[in-house]
Amino acid sequence: MINKFNLKKGYKLSLILLLFVCFSCKETKEEPSKDFVVTENLSEDELKYRPLYHFTPKNNWMNDPNGMFYLNGKYHLYFQYYPEDNVWGPMHWGHAISEDLINFKEQPIALYPDELGLIFSGSAVVDYHNTSGFGMDGKVPVVAIYTYHNMEGEKRGDLDFQTQGIAYSLDEGMTWVKYNENPVISNPGIKDFRDPKVIWDTKTKRWIMSLAAGNKIMFYSSSNLKDWDFESDFGEEKGEHGGVWECPDLFPIKVEGSEEYKWVLLVSINPSGPNGGSATQYFIGDFDGQHFVLDDNFSKQLDQYNSIWLDYGRDNYAGVTWSNIPMIDGRKLFIGWMSNWDYARDVPTYKWRSTMTIPRELNLIRNDEQYTLLNQPVKELNNFISRKIEKDMLSSGEELSNILNERDIDFNKLNLKFQLKGLGENEYRFVFNNNSDSLIIGINNLTKTLFLDRTKSGKVEFSEKFASHISKVNLPEPLEKVKVQILLDKTSVEVFVNDGAIVLTELFFPKEPFDEFFIESEDSEFKISNVEIAELKFD
Ligand code: FRU
Repeated sequence: MINKFNLKKGYKLSLILLLFVCFSCKETKEEPSKDFVVTENLSEDELKYRPLYHFTPKNNWMNDPNGMFYLNGKYHLYFQYYPEDNVWGPMHWGHAISEDLINFKEQPIALYPDELGLIFSGSAVVDYHNTSGFGMDGKVPVVAIYTYHNMEGEKRGDLDFQTQGIAYSLDEGMTWVKYNENPVISNPGIKDFRDPKVIWDTKTKRWIMSLAAGNKIMFYSSSNLKDWDFESDFGEEKGEHGGVWECPDLFPIKVEGSEEYKWVLLVSINPSGPNGGSATQYFIGDFDGQHFVLDDNFSKQLDQYNSIWLDYGRDNYAGVTWSNIPMIDGRKLFIGWMSNWDYARDVPTYKWRSTMTIPRELNLIRNDEQYTLLNQPVKELNNFISRKIEKDMLSSGEELSNILNERDIDFNKLNLKFQLKGLGENEYRFVFNNNSDSLIIGINNLTKTLFLDRTKSGKVEFSEKFASHISKVNLPEPLEKVKVQILLDKTSVEVFVNDGAIVLTELFFPKEPFDEFFIESEDSEFKISNVEIAELKFD
C-alpha cells in the first residue's frame, strides 16, 4: 500500500472528515492570499516563471553575486550582468538593494567595462579607517575589488589577461570611481586568476584577499587595499579538482554552542559538481593571517568523501557572503547564483536569465569530531508569512491524503516544514505535481541516498544536461528520522535537510504550476510530525 500525506489545491472535503482530521491543526491567517492575476500583457515568462521572492534582474543576463556589503540598513547585492542580451556577454556589475534581505530593488549599473577589460566577479568592503585614503570630507569609502578580464589578451592566447582592479564609492555604493593606478595585482602568468574576496583580518589588522588561481586559492594581504603581497596558497591537492576553481570566500566563524572559532573556505568549481556542472565545496581549517591549514578532523572527513559541498543540488553556484554585517547581528549571510553553467544560457526564460538563491545564514556545527557547515534561509523570510497551517503529529496509517485539502495553498510561494520519524528500509517520496509534471524529493534508505528528481518536471528539453539524471547525495547511514524544509518559488526548489546539513537547490519549469503535494511510501509505519505549511506573501 502507498501511504500518502496529501495537499491538493481545490479538493473538496466533507465536513465530518475535516473535523476528524483537524483535531491537531492550527491555522493562522494574516490576510487572504492574492489570487494569481492573469494580465494579458505579461508574457509567459513573467506569469509562469518570474520568481516571486528570489532576485532576478528586470531584463537580460545575470550570473554570480558580487560585492555584497551591508551599510546603514541596506544590503547591497551586485552581480555579473550583461545589459544587452539574455546570454553571457561583456560583464558589468549590476546592482540591487534590499532592506529586508528578501525584496531586492534593482539599481543603475554600478561598474562598466573599461580599457583594462570586462568587470568579472569580486567583493566590496567598507573601509571605516580610510586605509585606502579614498575617503574624503569625512565620507567613508566603500571599496570594490574585482577582476579585469581582457578580451584582446585572451584572444591573442596570452596567459595574463586577468588582473585585479579596485574602485571606490563615497555615496554608499551608488556610484563608483575606478582607481587610476589599476590593476592593483598584475597577473603572474596564470590563465584563470580571478574573483578576489577581501576581508579585514582583526588579528593581523590587514586586509586579506582570497583569489582563485586555476586549481588553487592564493592568499594576499594589504594594509591599504592598493598594495598587495602574496602570502600563500591552498588546495592543489585537496577537494574536488575536475574543473576550474572560482569565487572563493574565506572567513572566521564561531562553532555553534562553543567558544571555538574556525575558518571556512568556500570554493566554487566548474565543472565536476557532485551532480554535474557547477557547485560550491567548502573546507574547514585555521588561518593565521598567512596560511590556511585544514583542520585535522576535517582532513579525515575529506579523506572519506574527497569533497564536501555546501549544496548538492545543481543550481547554487559562485555564492559568497556579505561583508560588514554588524557585530550585534553577527550572522554569516550568503547568497548564490541559482543556475549552472551546464545550461544557464538555455533555461526557458527570455526577458531575463537567472535568479539568485534565497539569502542564507551559514552556521558551523561540530558533532563529535565532525564539522558541518549548515546553510538555511534567513529568518527574515518568516516576516513574509501570510498564513500558516500547523500540525503536531500525523500517523501514516491514516488516510492522510485528505488532511490538508481545501486550503487552496499557492505552491508558487510555499515554505513547507515537516519531520519524519520511524523510517525503515524503504523509500520515502515527497512529490509535487500537477496533471502532467512532477518534482520528487526523496530518501532511499535501501540505497542510502537522498535525491531530487526533476526529470519529469515540465520543460526539460531545452538542454540535454538539464534533466539527464536524478541528483543524489550519498548518506553515511540510513536515516531513521529527518527534518525537512522546502522552499518553492515558481521555478525553484530549495530543500534543507536536518537544519541545512544537506541542501539541494534546483530549478524546474513546470508547464502549469504544481497544485498537489504528497508524501508517499510503501512503509506504513513512519510518522510525520511538526508540520508547518506557510504560504508567503509577495505580489
Ligand atoms: C563564475 C565565473 C567567475 C567569473 C565570472 C564571469 O561563474 O566564471 O569565475 O569572474 O563568472 O562572469
